[in-house]
Amino acid sequence: MNMTELSVLNEHFGIDDQLTFSEGPGGLAVVEIVNSLAVATIALQGAHLLSWIPRGEQPVIWLSRDARFKAGQSIRGGVPVCWPWFGPHATHPSYPAHGFARSVPWQVCETKTIEDGATFVAFRVMQTDATNVFWPHTSELELGIKVGATLELDLITRNTGPESITIGDALHTYFAVSDVRHIAVDGLDGCTYIDKLDSDKRKQQSGPVTFNAETDRIYLDASADCLINDAGMQRRIRIGKRGSRSTVVWNPWLEKAERMGDMGENGYLNMVCVESTNAADDVVTIAPGDEHHLWVSYQLETLA
Ligand code: BG6
Repeated sequence: MNMTELSVLNEHFGIDDQLTFSEGPGGLAVVEIVNSLAVATIALQGAHLLSWIPRGEQPVIWLSRDARFKAGQSIRGGVPVCWPWFGPHATHPSYPAHGFARSVPWQVCETKTIEDGATFVAFRVMQTDATNVFWPHTSELELGIKVGATLELDLITRNTGPESITIGDALHTYFAVSDVRHIAVDGLDGCTYIDKLDSDKRKQQSGPVTFNAETDRIYLDASADCLINDAGMQRRIRIGKRGSRSTVVWNPWLEKAERMGDMGENGYLNMVCVESTNAADDVVTIAPGDEHHLWVSYQLETLA
């Protein structure tokens, strides 16, 4: 994006001292939000939130120190938006994993200040000939992001065509943790999960989720809030959600992280993905004229 396009964005959507558009890493355009409650950065490519730091706190969102910032390539860390499918495409293995929304440009459609001091920005992804190859349906996809002491994201899929559509989606959030080996994730006790590292066997969670090896699971029918308890940072991250029936829990551990090449040295120790998702059995069918919201809120709580 050139300087003229950035100035046009600042003129139309900038909010003095609170929301500005600028050139970010790798030349990707970013929105920077600074208000009395938090600071955040969002790349226009993928409407990809890169950081959110509530005032007086440590970063809540993990971004790899070796993340690559290139047009058309998903960024490692932050909050990638997976849409309109999750994981590999069901029938076309050559299609991009987790859909195309995370690696295409989005347009800004609204910005505003909210009474409590938070800042709101909404993005829309445009259908193009390139995206029509993967998704030959008429639909709209919007992401609203509210940056405050709580971070809220609302991913809205509208079916604007004449036939029902079925989507998988995810807010594939990478959370920053002190040491993944010493955290515990609550909220999934008793849920059935698909273990992607054990031939997709279905298993049952008992107690909190803890980590001592590569972990890649889709928890089904899992609509409850999740809590990431992190004694090392003396904090708990509360993940509230609506319109999400599955939760994916992922950490690549050492060997896979090394194969991936963009996780940073030992980066896997300081992150965990707890993804609010509709995947596998939980994909969503949307009738013509209807819309579906995948909504999440993240907030910090002090761990006594
Ligand atoms: C998780 C999947 O959601 O994303 C994993 O469950 C996958 O299987 C991971 O490895 C990262 O995916 P990607 O495409 O960003 O490397």
